[in-house]
Amino acid sequence: MALPRNIILVGFMASGKSRVGRILARHTGWPLVDADEEIVCRCGKPIPQIFEEEGEAAFRAVERSIIADLCAGSGRIIAAGGGAFVDPDNRRRMLDSGLVFCLGARAETIQRRVGKGAAARPLMAGDHSLERIQTLLAQRAEVYAQAHHTIETDRLTPDEVARSILGLCPGIPSEK
Ligand code: S3P
Repeated sequence: MALPRNIILVGFMASGKSRVGRILARHTGWPLVDADEEIVCRCGKPIPQIFEEEGEAAFRAVERSIIADLCAGSGRIIAAGGGAFVDPDNRRRMLDSGLVFCLGARAETIQRRVGKGAAARPLMAGDHSLERIQTLLAQRAEVYAQAHHTIETDRLTPDEVARSILGLCPGIPSEK
């Protein structure tokens, strides 16, 4: 299998992208770039504040620009925000610039993992009920299915998820 240009993690909020990304970065020696952190850096304020003061459309515009920048590079682990892959331009860029892994999880697992982190996620801040998560998951299912690979994470530790991913891209360097 050819060496992927980047390893890109997509999937629903709290599916473990950042955690798994950190493990992958350690194993490969590739830097982890977290798209949400880049957005916060560029806007100079946390995500809930961007949504509140500028609206979701403004957030998505910055996200699109960051995804374009990140996908233009190589040798990176890219952790995207849960909604990034929903945008068709982002999706095409990500699929063209590396191997895209969707971290799948059931609504119950998501709800458990979100825990106290709901406030930092505007789409779940007011309501992170099982119904809300199930509705959003159903809305995005068709899009997430377009990733090159999906790893169902419900019964796996982040280390096991990372190992599964590395097993699907054997050409990449492994430092550990
Ligand atoms: C979002 C997911 C968040 C963040 C923003 C919107 C989404 O990232 O980008 O709150 O639309 O699913 P995480 O998936 O890292 O929580």
